[in-house]
Amino acid sequence: MQDPNVRPESMKRITTEELARAFIEEQVASIRAQVGKGKVLLALSGGVDSSVCAALISKAIGSRLCCVHVNHGLLRKGEPEQVCRVFGEQFDVNLIYVDAVDRFLDALAGVSDPERKRKIIGGIFIEVFAEEARKLKGIKFLGQGTIYPDILESKDGIKAHHNVGGLPEELNFELVEPVKLLYKDEVRVVGRALGLPEGMVERQPFPGPGLGVRCVGAITRDRLEAVRESDAILREEFAAAGLQGKVWQYFTIVPDFKSTGIKDGKRTFDWPVVIRAINTTDAIKVTIEEIPYELLYKIRDRILAEVKGVNRVLYDLTPKPVGTIEWE
Ligand code: XMP
Repeated sequence: MQDPNVRPESMKRITTEELARAFIEEQVASIRAQVGKGKVLLALSGGVDSSVCAALISKAIGSRLCCVHVNHGLLRKGEPEQVCRVFGEQFDVNLIYVDAVDRFLDALAGVSDPERKRKIIGGIFIEVFAEEARKLKGIKFLGQGTIYPDILESKDGIKAHHNVGGLPEELNFELVEPVKLLYKDEVRVVGRALGLPEGMVERQPFPGPGLGVRCVGAITRDRLEAVRESDAILREEFAAAGLQGKVWQYFTIVPDFKSTGIKDGKRTFDWPVVIRAINTTDAIKVTIEEIPYELLYKIRDRILAEVKGVNRVLYDLTPKPVGTIEWE
């Protein structure tokens, strides 16, 4: 029998609206068959994967889909507000907002191992969902925007994907993962065919553990703020330069070491900010985007002037392989 976590060789790469429509029809039927009259709880981060997943499931079962947006404190600047605005008002889905910032950051305090951080974030995520599920009563299914690279890399033991496993047994959640055999580029084609807004479909991918894997080592609130603020500056300047949608993923990293600098005639001892801007189609082979120096200088100047605790800006030139996209 075909392993449901292995993409069949006969499956065509979804590159056109027609192929996307056929995939959508197939998935709608399969979700209906799986869920019956049941309800689905879905983690809506607002990223491409979970948004497409939400749109697909809601196409299949309508308002029996309940979306939960968990603010774990590791989201980008302005993101929780945007998710609530778009899905709560524009899309009018059944959306529950959970502020769990302190719960996540307290549990992560002092934890430096990347896989351990992922497990803690994933574990609390599941706990929060379980709590919501218990409150909502009778929810048997958990929708997830797992995509194929997540499955491949979990299998190869490269990293533990936060979406896989760990559900409390008594809840007996059954997973609904309609895009799990798709590559990222295919998820976007499907999203477009589902009628999701272009800004959402073209949005750069954002990992489940969020800024947590970009605040290298043990997360502290001040360094996390440096990641969030520098990331916001980078995104703003890339958008202003027309690079949004042209560069696949771009973000900043703040490592947990300091170096010496000088500001206003005084010695400083602060963190560096690393800029990563990459291009790829499948997140497996990655090339480095050539960014004009003029733009890099502008971003550097803003980061050095506006972000607290930072005295150096670096640009990561490493392709994948050898380096993964994220630093953890
Ligand atoms: P890497 O760092 O493995 O990243 O080259 C490949 C793509 O996956 C994203 N990523 C994750 N997404 N949970 C996620 O949902 C994770 O734990 C995770 N780690 C990496 C990363 O941002 C990139 O797009």
